[in-house]
This record gives sequence, structure tokens and C-alpha cells, in this order.
Amino acid sequence: MRLVRRIADLGPLAADIGLVPTMGALHAGHEALLAAARAECDTVVVSMFVNPAQFDEAGDLASYPRDEGRDLEVAEAAGADVAFAPTVDEMYPPGFQTWVDVEELSRVLEGAVRPGHFRGVATVCLKLFNIVRPRYAYFGQKDAQQLALLRRLVRDLHLGVTIRSVPTVRDDDGLALSSRNARLSPAEREAALALPRALATHDVGAAREILAGLDVDYVEVADFDPPVLAAAVRVGSTRLIDNVVLTEEKR
Ligand code: PAJ
Repeated sequence: MRLVRRIADLGPLAADIGLVPTMGALHAGHEALLAAARAECDTVVVSMFVNPAQFDEAGDLASYPRDEGRDLEVAEAAGADVAFAPTVDEMYPPGFQTWVDVEELSRVLEGAVRPGHFRGVATVCLKLFNIVRPRYAYFGQKDAQQLALLRRLVRDLHLGVTIRSVPTVRDDDGLALSSRNARLSPAEREAALALPRALATHDVGAAREILAGLDVDYVEVADFDPPVLAAAVRVGSTRLIDNVVLTEEKR
């Protein structure tokens, strides 16, 4: 595996490139994306970049888990050929001022609670697509709105990359894997389990009842393709999001 920090050092890369964008702190969810890329691409590029532009809270950015040494080992073991881990300055040099805004999809649900978040996601992903030029890019169903927004971006701007989605990977207790889970105390983790339990009902009313005691940002059916029951809750100072794909009869 090659470690690249500078855009100029990255290319040219081989024909069938698969890109797995991440913010590091790799877990089994990221490994599932890497496995999907490994299965269909000649060259697998994983990007690891904690993108400041998509954080709406300075504290969340500052406390985002970082362990590059471990991430490189996990990525290599999962079959990555290239790890692209640029500095903030490499991605956003002085004078940077061009942003891409997926208007409607970035204003609802997560976007309503986290202003600017999806502008940051869309912009960094467009930059990564232009830098790496992948044929396929892999994203988790865990972030269903991000997936829908990036599919829209690719269609609207004729980006010529195929977006692949990978099912959500969960711990044995049902909690969706997330880099932010590490911040939960044992008691908070117990409380957080209401989230997957609520979504497993596949029913927005039942889910709202189960989550009633928690600090809920939203519980809604989102008309993505496929439609999902999505929710976001705060447990202590940690914000968790999750969703389930709705089966035919619940749509
Ligand atoms: P990050 O949170 O590191 O997630 C990277 C990718 O892993 C995303 O596509 C996300 O949906 C996927 N993922 C996270 N947890 C998962 C799980 N439990 N099961 C399956 N997939 C999971 O999402 C981002 O980074 C950033 O917004 C990014 C796209 C890299 C742009 O900065």
C-alpha cells in the first residue's frame, strides 16, 4: 500500500479505480466498504480526511477520534492499495472559495439540524472524485441522506462515477457502528440501544414512542431511493444517527 499526502503525488492510477471516502477512525463499517471495493476494482483508494468543512460544531471536530497509524494498518489489511491522507491545507489551500450545494437534500433532516454540513460533504466528495477519478465510489447506507445527496450530485453534475451503497454494519447489540460510539459511557450505550430498537419496528409512530424519553432531533420516513425510517438522537453529548430501509408494505 502506498501512502499519499499530496494531490500531485497521487496519479496516474490504474483503470478500474474504487474510492472509499472516510474520515479515518476505521471500523468494521468502513471495512465492509473496502471489501466491496476490493471485490470489483483493480485499484482501491481509501481517503482518510477529517473534513473541517462538514463540521458544524468546533467541539465535535476537535474531539473527532484520530489514529492514523492504526487506520493505515486496518486499510492495508482490508485490501486498500492507496491511502490518500491529505492535510487540511492540501485540500483547502489559502484562497479556497468554491462550494457545491445540493439545494433541497441538504436542507432537510440532518441538514436542518446541522447547517452547512452537507455543503461540506458535497464539496469534499466532488474534490475527491476529481482528484482520484474513480469508476466506483462506495458509501454506507448508515448515512442514507449523504448517499441520496451524493447520488443527486453525481447526476446533476454528470460526474461519471458510479455510487455503490453498502448495508449498515451493526454491533451484536444492534447499535450501528460509528466512530462516535467510542464516546459513549456504558450507561449511555445502554440508552442508545433504544435507537436501533425503535427503527426495527419499521413504524414511525412506534419508533417515536420508544424514543420518547431521549433527546430526539427527528424520527421520520425519508423518501430516498429506497425509502428509509431515519432518526437522530442525542445521548449525553454524543449525537447518533441511524436508519432502516423500509420494506415494500411499509412504504
Ligand atoms: P465517515 O463517517 O468516516 O464514513 C465513511 C463511510 O463509511 C461513509 O460512506 C459511511 O456511510 C460509512 N459507514 C459509517 N458507518 C458505517 C456502518 N456502520 N456500516 C456501513 N457503512 C458505514 O461519511 C463520512 O465519513 C464523510 O461524510 C465523508 C463521506 C468521508 C466525506 O467527508
